[in-house]
Amino acid sequence: MAILCNCYNKRMKNDAAKLKIGVLVSGRGSNLQAIMDASASGVLDAEIAVVISDKPDAPALRRIDGVAPGVVIERKSHPTAEAFDSAIANALEERRVELVVLAGFMRVLGADFIRRFRGRIINIHPSLLPSFPGLHAQRQALLHGVKISGCTVHLVDESLDGGPILAQSAVPVLPGDTEESLSERILKKEHTLLVKAIMAYGSARHNMANVKGS
Ligand code: GRF
Repeated sequence: MAILCNCYNKRMKNDAAKLKIGVLVSGRGSNLQAIMDASASGVLDAEIAVVISDKPDAPALRRIDGVAPGVVIERKSHPTAEAFDSAIANALEERRVELVVLAGFMRVLGADFIRRFRGRIINIHPSLLPSFPGLHAQRQALLHGVKISGCTVHLVDESLDGGPILAQSAVPVLPGDTEESLSERILKKEHTLLVKAIMAYGSARHNMANVKGS
């Protein structure tokens, strides 16, 4: 079950410039793939302006295949965490990114970065927040014996996985579930939920622009 405003359904295609998104990744990139697929099929009216990875060998980078520019920005190439964050922010701003999507980005962004993109950063997390923030959310869910888990898309603020919740999708925990089986079931929901959340964000931005213009 996806709990989400369905106003994106009403958005007419091509009635505004595409939403420019920047996707931050560190690893596998299956959520990035879901965004690219939805964009390629026209389901998602968004342009992936840039994909940024903090890991040069992230499998996510191999998925891009010309669809979007891929940029590697490594922490070790920067003297401080602030300089690293700033390099990412500059790369996003250079490409006029409107929405920053954290799709398996395994670093915490600092306060300056959040200020520069306040209200324009979303993250996908594999639990029903506020339960189980941080790492190994699916393992935490199993250890606590919850019967329902799921995934959450939330706005990113200075807290760890604590920003306002935009959308959630529930996934039952089944008898005999392992961390792997539960993660796999949640991941499928993540792909749909993240795309819907981006659509909803684009729709809201479009509606706000109409209100301002009227
Ligand atoms: C997902 O489970 C996401 O919720 C979490 O990291 C994982 C990334 O997977 N933040 P992928 O790289 O998108 O396949």
